[in-house]
Amino acid sequence: MNSQNSVEDVIKSRFSCRKYESKRIDPTTKKELDTYLNTEETEHFDFSIAYSSRYQHDYIIACIDPASTNSLQFGKHFERVVLTCTQMGLATCWTGIFPQHHFRVLASSTRHASVGMITPIGYAASMPPKKQKKPWNELFFSESSYTPLDPSSCTMYKECLEMVRLAPSGMNLQPWRVVYQKGHFHFFLQRTKGIIGFAFQSLLLDLQKVDMGIALCHFELTARERDLPGEWTMSPPTLSYKEWEYIQTWQYDYTLL
Ligand SMILES: Cc1cc2nc3c(=O)[nH]c(=O)nc-3n(C[C@H](O)[C@H](O)[C@H](O)COP(=O)(O)O)c2cc1C
Repeated sequence: MNSQNSVEDVIKSRFSCRKYESKRIDPTTKKELDTYLNTEETEHFDFSIAYSSRYQHDYIIACIDPASTNSLQFGKHFERVVLTCTQMGLATCWTGIFPQHHFRVLASSTRHASVGMITPIGYAASMPPKKQKKPWNELFFSESSYTPLDPSSCTMYKECLEMVRLAPSGMNLQPWRVVYQKGHFHFFLQRTKGIIGFAFQSLLLDLQKVDMGIALCHFELTARERDLPGEWTMSPPTLSYKEWEYIQTWQYDYTLL
């Protein structure tokens, strides 16, 4: 992502847009986006732009190999694309449930046989009311899952967590949970029970893992922009959590701060 606006401003201005003006995206913007979709940041993925005359929108279509695509990594990268669109003034909406055949034909990918995710891209015709997000005390914890995290105990990273809180998620379920222990932000997935309906069974990606990838993306982009130290590691806390699936840890040397 290039940075004319701060990552935080971009994250705050993104929303899921479901009503678009009936016009194609500007050719210069399209070219710029096309170039971005073929940069190092996204080259391991198969993202392309296509126009659907059925829905009268431009779309970014993500083709995948269901057997090998890592949903977490996919979420991280597709969110970077979504935020890049936001920065370019394009409205988007992550869409995991869509007619596979229609978009597979449009994508004309020679690399992959399936479409894993799409987003319309265009100009918002109206702004929906802001979606409610869970409060801090339901998402972020200190030492264990019992004690809500007091933002004043992690002031440097407070905004990184706030950007996680504002992230988009499938059905707005916000399945991310973070436990802070000195020098560690442990990220967990709290899966939502009872959403394995027909539509979900036919999905090619693990949508709640995709959500976690989005959360990691927001946390990392914010930390990097604020020059905060740290990197992703697999270092689960000794305490395990029955209802939560461990994902990754942002680990940093707290003596540096
Ligand atoms: C992985 C994923 C899949 C989604 N799939 C759909 C979808 O199929 N249809 C839809 O209308 N919105 C979909 N959304 C958008 C969410 O409903 C939306 O992000 C959530 O309600 C929060 O609203 P916001 O994006 O405006 O913050 C999806 C979002 C994510 C992250």
